[in-house]
Amino acid sequence: MAKAVLMEGEKLMCGIVGYIGPKGAVPILLEGLKKLEYRGYDSAGIAVIEDQKLKLRKAEGKLKALDDKLGLEKFQGNVGLGHTRWATHGRPSDANAHPHQDCEGKLALVHNGIIENFQDIKRTLEKEGHSFSSETDTEVVVHLVEKFFEGNLSEAVKKATTELEGSYALAVINQENPDQIVAYRQDSPLILGIGEDEFYLASDIPALLPYTRRVIILEDGEMAELNRENFRVIGPGGNLQNKEIEEIDWDLEMAEKKGFPHYMLKEIHEQPDVMRQLLEKPLRGNGIELQEIDAILKEKEKIEKIFIVACGTAYHSGLIGKALLEKATGIPVEVDMASEFRYRSPLVGEDSLVIVVSQSGETADTLAALRHARDKRAKTMGLVNVQGSTIAREVDQLLLIKAGPEIAVASTKAYLNMLAAFNLLALKMGGSDIAGDGIDQLLHFLREIPAQVEKTLHRMEKPVREAARYIKNWDNAFFVGRGLDFSLALEGALKLKEISYIHAEAYAAGELKHGTLALIEEGIPVVALLTQESLLEKMISNIQEIRARGGYVFGITQDRFASRVEAEVDFLLKTPNTPDIFAPLLGTIPLQLLSYFSADFRNCPIDQPRNLAKSVTVE
Ligand code: AGP
Repeated sequence: MAKAVLMEGEKLMCGIVGYIGPKGAVPILLEGLKKLEYRGYDSAGIAVIEDQKLKLRKAEGKLKALDDKLGLEKFQGNVGLGHTRWATHGRPSDANAHPHQDCEGKLALVHNGIIENFQDIKRTLEKEGHSFSSETDTEVVVHLVEKFFEGNLSEAVKKATTELEGSYALAVINQENPDQIVAYRQDSPLILGIGEDEFYLASDIPALLPYTRRVIILEDGEMAELNRENFRVIGPGGNLQNKEIEEIDWDLEMAEKKGFPHYMLKEIHEQPDVMRQLLEKPLRGNGIELQEIDAILKEKEKIEKIFIVACGTAYHSGLIGKALLEKATGIPVEVDMASEFRYRSPLVGEDSLVIVVSQSGETADTLAALRHARDKRAKTMGLVNVQGSTIAREVDQLLLIKAGPEIAVASTKAYLNMLAAFNLLALKMGGSDIAGDGIDQLLHFLREIPAQVEKTLHRMEKPVREAARYIKNWDNAFFVGRGLDFSLALEGALKLKEISYIHAEAYAAGELKHGTLALIEEGIPVVALLTQESLLEKMISNIQEIRARGGYVFGITQDRFASRVEAEVDFLLKTPNTPDIFAPLLGTIPLQLLSYFSADFRNCPIDQPRNLAKSVTVE
């Protein structure tokens, strides 16, 4: 995708909702936006048609600001659109908030994505007499629809899209026809919810769960017309599409806080269950049942190289995946950040397997990397959480990681299930070579992991809170480890930075002497991971170097190594015993809790950290 040329405040990742039916639209739109707020929380807005008049309210800031603005003035209309916005540059404002309107204020439009050529379009439209009231790229779309409107909204939207370059999910309403919503998808997610005599639109499934689990996932180039009695989907060539209605197996409870103060804490505590859900079917017999990868296994001999490509936390899971897969298969594995993959001209071809990893299944860089791999005729596999997401639909082989809806921006349960999925994959592809143990014994331990995650959660809560009480006062922290523990350290540091705003860096412990030791000062917190037996002595030497320079060391180790580690650290956290290859599955729990409690002590907005959004759908 060409790089967008954007004005300040223009780069958007957002959430869209829509409703048409017999009920009042406003509560449904607000509830839907609440579920999508993780996609962006810089501003929110709604538009409903009441007595053939568009009623709009928009407010800068979180959804609460919109709710406050609406106050008791709840509009009565039963068709409407809502939007929650995320901007990377410039100040969010009421004027830049969606929905946007045409010159006459008859149309209201919401958009998720980027219009790359909006400046050219804007210049032309201005010459033609259109006037603009925001700096957004989105506003050009509603003026284009206005320009092409000759009584048929769908035709006008279709014509407008032929002028647009970029990614966009759009929805439009026209006050003169309160019986219709028109929506269009191109490279940004859009889902229709099918209710009883009512229809919904949303960027993501959680917004639909309070109302329906029957959904239709729009494909690129498809337009949906929603009326009060029915709907139709029109394909890129103008033909009527026969779309399959899918049943989503997530339930509403999974998408709610269930009494926890934050989604993040709830999601951390859901980990034993979601991991059971993932492992149950593959491990119910003697071996590993994983039909999802049968096609890849048949072609295994032809695979010369494996690439794992992902962003952020998913990338960190890939680092652990690399270690497991290389050991298991003997095939070289490279791990790439998706944002770098295409630009380094990777040597990917027909003999490569490219595994993309993504919670949302919508991350723009990961999707672009996948498409690049497909262009190069590589075999592709996805480890994805969201069923029906773009990446889930475009990979050759899909392994759903089954973590359920993850709402907190900081990824926890999805990461853990990504790790578990890599373990399944490695064991299936390579068998017992993975740890020199018999496969039966490894499977026995893997089956026990969900219960051990539960045990780890119980025993960690108190001591980790104490550790966080110390860390919260520092502006800098370090995470160190070797081998699998170094990959885990990277994730621990990202989590702490992301939600507590403490600057944290992870280092391979052996690298410290090559520069980083200079940063160690009296009392500075250093989290040292010591879960790998073969690296224990080396880690202990590195810790001694840190403590000799005043570093305050929090050690994380397995019970069975505690006696060797205890005297070497200032504060020890112990996880239950497991074979070393599974240790990251337990070691991640104290890291997640450490970032959570540190952020909580610092009064940070844990589920919605500043400047971030859950689903990064732009490059
Ligand atoms: C994790 O805590 C982050 N919020 C982020 O790094 C995330 O993992 C990354 O943006 C990738 O998202 P994805 O898994 O949805 O592709």
